[in-house]
Amino acid sequence: MAATQSQPVKVLFVCLGNICRSPTAEGVFRQHLREAGLEDRVEVDSAGTGDYHIGEPPDERARETAARRGYDLAALRARQVSREDFAKFDYILAMDIENLRSLKRFCPPEHGHKVMLFTEFCSKGACVVPDPYGGGPEGFERVLDLVEDASQGLLEHVREKLEI
Ligand code: 4NP
Repeated sequence: MAATQSQPVKVLFVCLGNICRSPTAEGVFRQHLREAGLEDRVEVDSAGTGDYHIGEPPDERARETAARRGYDLAALRARQVSREDFAKFDYILAMDIENLRSLKRFCPPEHGHKVMLFTEFCSKGACVVPDPYGGGPEGFERVLDLVEDASQGLLEHVREKLEI
């Protein structure tokens, strides 16, 4: 969707539970926007394709890993993707192929072009942001590495879109 300069660009990050990867992406990208002075130009949110963790704060391991790199995820709460999200957001960015498929299944056809993998904005050709939930701390570090990299690419993309 073409955003004019006066409208904020709206970005939704999506994973399965909305307690590890997508809140991490929300927190990191918000910080990138703040540092670039663009927080008023871009709206950011996150959600899960599943309903297991609705209302919960991000996973403690995700919060701590993010906090060590200077990102505060404490105020975020999990929610599930809703039908209205497809109309509202300009970019609906899935963390992995399963989330992408779930989103594509539920997305009204006229909004299908908005749904893509967040890693398309990575500089290093990563395929997906792997699910860290059942693994060790290195999985959470990997999430941060990929999310920081993709956030930089997304920021540059948004700058071009806003012509700033
Ligand atoms: P997320 O990680 O999708 O990055 O939030 C997960 C969180 C919870 C579960 C799976 C993945 N779970 O099965 O409860």
